[in-house]
Amino acid sequence: MTQYMPVAQKTSANITAIRLTMLLGAVVFLLLMLFGIVMRAAQGQIINLEPTVFYQLMTAHGAGMVGAAALTGSAIMWYFLGRYVQLSALAYNVFLGLFLVGVVLVLGAVFVGGFAGAWTFLYPLPALSGGSWEVGAATTFVLGLVAIGVAYLIFYLETGRAMIAAYGGLGRALAWPLVFTGKMDNVPPPAVIASASVTVFNTVGIVVGAAVLVVTLINLYVPSFAIDPLLAKNFIYFFGHVFINASIYMAVIAVYEILPLYTGRKWKSSRLFAIAWSAILLMATSVYPHHMMQDVAMPGWLLVMGQLVSFGNSLPLLGVTAFSMLAYLHRSGIKWDLASALLVIGVLGWSLGAVPAIIDGTISVNRVMHNTLWVPGHFHTYLLLGEVAMSLGFMAWLTKGDRESAFAPAEKAAITAYVAGTLGFTFMFLISGATSIPRRWAIHFPEWHLQDRIATAFAALLIAAFFTLITFYVVRLLRPARA
Ligand code: HEM
Repeated sequence: MTQYMPVAQKTSANITAIRLTMLLGAVVFLLLMLFGIVMRAAQGQIINLEPTVFYQLMTAHGAGMVGAAALTGSAIMWYFLGRYVQLSALAYNVFLGLFLVGVVLVLGAVFVGGFAGAWTFLYPLPALSGGSWEVGAATTFVLGLVAIGVAYLIFYLETGRAMIAAYGGLGRALAWPLVFTGKMDNVPPPAVIASASVTVFNTVGIVVGAAVLVVTLINLYVPSFAIDPLLAKNFIYFFGHVFINASIYMAVIAVYEILPLYTGRKWKSSRLFAIAWSAILLMATSVYPHHMMQDVAMPGWLLVMGQLVSFGNSLPLLGVTAFSMLAYLHRSGIKWDLASALLVIGVLGWSLGAVPAIIDGTISVNRVMHNTLWVPGHFHTYLLLGEVAMSLGFMAWLTKGDRESAFAPAEKAAITAYVAGTLGFTFMFLISGATSIPRRWAIHFPEWHLQDRIATAFAALLIAAFFTLITFYVVRLLRPARA
């Protein structure tokens, strides 16, 4: 069995486009964090906000944050996959262009048209605004999501094509000969196995999302063209859950590729690693029913499957990635710096964020907790301390000078503030959820204000830290590029 070649120094990815994509993603994160703190401050009555404006901010925050997480994750995957397969820079530029068109449409729909139906565009809500927005605004929002969906189809068609060309099929890129027989020549590196898995399952998710978007679009103009709302909800949550999870599964490739440069130990494509990524292919697409457990009309077997897969979902990947990372780090003599610290935090934060998800995935708990702030508590943990931390780590490494190894006190302080701010902010969501405070309520009762206000203070700390971390990136960006 031959392993892949050592990490190449060159990548066929367009480095300038990747650096700019990460900058764009970081600026969007920052802007939307400001929207987030405004919402939290409004819930705590620190400021006054019209409910219609709250829901517009919530829609832009949800759609934009999911988009920025996906964008930064995609840039990471593209960059590292480009070390092993030949990717087309044109495809990336078309992807980015269409993505930006989608963003403009979504922002226009929300802030010009007043669309405030949340990023989940739950059918038939876009058509039933109660006078809050016109059909044109809902159409623009849906078209914006369609543009982003098409952008992603181009992205994955190209990554899929390039992997088939290099490895002779997606099954080989997923290391299936190794999975099923224990033997394989030219075993793909972890970056390729992970990319193949995400390419397959996220393409399925996007196609399902596109189908329900088209139905929503027609329904806006021909109301008699209806779809079963429960089926539409299944489609939407299937798409949404797969899509947001894919952002982290793409970002973790940075950990596989960069940490070995610090530990001196190559991240191996073991049989267990390949099995884990094949399992995730199935689990990522079957875990979504934990969003549907309060829908009494759902078939019982789907709910039971959702609970079982929710329990097992984290095991193949987090178990393998987090456990392997600790083993690789142990006695490696690693010299910590901004990049390595953020990447390790990314894996640990992702693991931590999975715990409330597993609790929420239990049917009896879910029936009480799912529509509470417990759920934003879980996904803000794994996004802020997982995907966003990994993206920041990648950005720090991408712009790190070759002879630079120091971990400056200002960098340590920024990371500490980011972790402390995020833990405090998300913990207040979890406490609020555990005491049954509902999610997505613009107006909170006075009894809930204390949690909201403490959360707002922690959010201010994390935003200040995030701003500092991206300032480091911008300063380093002005230096020569890493090839
Ligand atoms: C300083 C950072 C952040 C703050 C203050 C913040 C605040 C908020 C608030 C107040 C809500 C509404 C909660 C409710 O249901 O009542 C929310 C929802 C949400 N946030 Fe954040 N957030 C932050 C960062 C992020 C990040 C980094 C992401 C993703 C990468 C994210 C994704 C979302 C999503 C998807 C929703 C759900 C929107 C919906 O229910 O339709 N947030 N956030």
